[in-house]
Amino acid sequence: MLRRLHHEQPDSFAFTPANQAWAEAQITKYPEGRQASAIIPLLWRAQEQEGWLTRPAIEYVADMLGMAHIRALEVASFYFMFQLQPVGSVANIQICGTTTCMICGSGDLIAVCREKIAPKPHMLSADGKFTWEEVECLGACANAPMAQIGKDYYEDLTAERFAVILDELAAGKVPVPGPQNGRYSSEPESGLVALTEFESGRTQYNASVARAVELGDTVKRIDGTEVPILTPWLGKSSEKPAAAPAAKAKAPAPKPAAKPAAAPKAAPAAEAEEAEPELLTAAREGGADDLKLLKGVGPKLEQTLNELGFFHFDQIAAWGPAEIAWVDNRLTFKGRITRDGWVEQAGKLAAGEETEFAKRAKKDKIYD
Ligand code: FES
Repeated sequence: MLRRLHHEQPDSFAFTPANQAWAEAQITKYPEGRQASAIIPLLWRAQEQEGWLTRPAIEYVADMLGMAHIRALEVASFYFMFQLQPVGSVANIQICGTTTCMICGSGDLIAVCREKIAPKPHMLSADGKFTWEEVECLGACANAPMAQIGKDYYEDLTAERFAVILDELAAGKVPVPGPQNGRYSSEPESGLVALTEFESGRTQYNASVARAVELGDTVKRIDGTEVPILTPWLGKSSEKPAAAPAAKAKAPAPKPAAKPAAAPKAAPAAEAEEAEPELLTAAREGGADDLKLLKGVGPKLEQTLNELGFFHFDQIAAWGPAEIAWVDNRLTFKGRITRDGWVEQAGKLAAGEETEFAKRAKKDKIYD
C-alpha cells in the first residue's frame, strides 16, 4: 500500500503546552546526540492530539529533534500505526481481519463499516465522525472477532452489537470495552472449568476493561493534561517536566513549563443544530484582525473564514455550539474549532489579551 501525505494539509501544528512539556521530557531519555530516537513517541503524541499525522506535525517533530524533515517523514510513512490522512472526529475503527477474526465473522463487521461509515477504508463518514480500516491480528484472537476503537478493544463482537456500538459512539457515548457477549475475559463461553474458586472473587470488569473504564480515554484526543508528567529516568520522580532537551534537540520555539492546557474538548460540534453566526460582507473600519493568530488557522483557512464572512476575533468569540456546527460544516477538516479552542482564543484576543500561540506566532511568524 502506497503511503503518502494527504493532498490537503492544515497550515500549522503545535503541541498543546502540556503535550509540549511531555515531549521535551521524553527527549531527555536519550543521550546527547541521540535525540532522534524519540521520533516515534513524539509522532505518536502528535497523532494522539490531532487524530492523524499532518505534514506540519511531522515537520514540527523533526525540528524538535534536529532531524531533516524527510527522515521524520520516512518514519511516519513506514509504520501503518501512523495515520497520514484525516480520521473520524470521534474514532478511526480498526477491524482485525486476520485468520481467527475472519473465521469468526470479521467480514460481517467490515460490512457494517461499509454500510454505516463509508464504502472504502480511510474514507470519512458523511458526518465526519468515523473512518475505518482493516488491520492485522491485534492479539485478542481468543475473543474474535474484535475491533480496536481508539485506545481500547471491543471483543466477541457480532454485526448487530457492533452497529449499536457505532451508534452509541456517534451519540457521544463510550460503550464499555472488552467482551461484548457476556464473557468476563477469554474463558470458555460455557464457563470456567478450572480455577473456578476465583469466579466468586471477580471484580466487575477484567483488569484491562477496568483500566479502560477508569481512564475513560477510549476515544479522547490527548492534550497532555490527563496524567502528571513524570521523569523517573532522571533519578527522581517529578511532576514537573524535565529541563529542555540538550543542545542538538532544538525545539521550534522555547516553551514555558507545563501548565494545564484547555479543558478536555466537548463532544464534536456536528452534534449541535446549525445556526448561522453573524456574518459580515467586509471587515469593519480599521481592517480585519489577523485570524492566523488563532492556533490552527493559516493563510488558506483565514481566506476561507473571510469568504464565509468572518474578519474579527469578536465574531468568532461569539460562536456557541450551533454557530460552531454551522462553520464546522463548511470547513474541510471538521472538529478543528473545538479541538483547537478557537472560541476561547478569539475571546482573549478580542479582549486585547495574548495567547501562548499568538505570542509565538508573532515572534516566529510560524504561519508564513
Ligand atoms: S486474529 Fe483477530 S485478534 Fe488475532
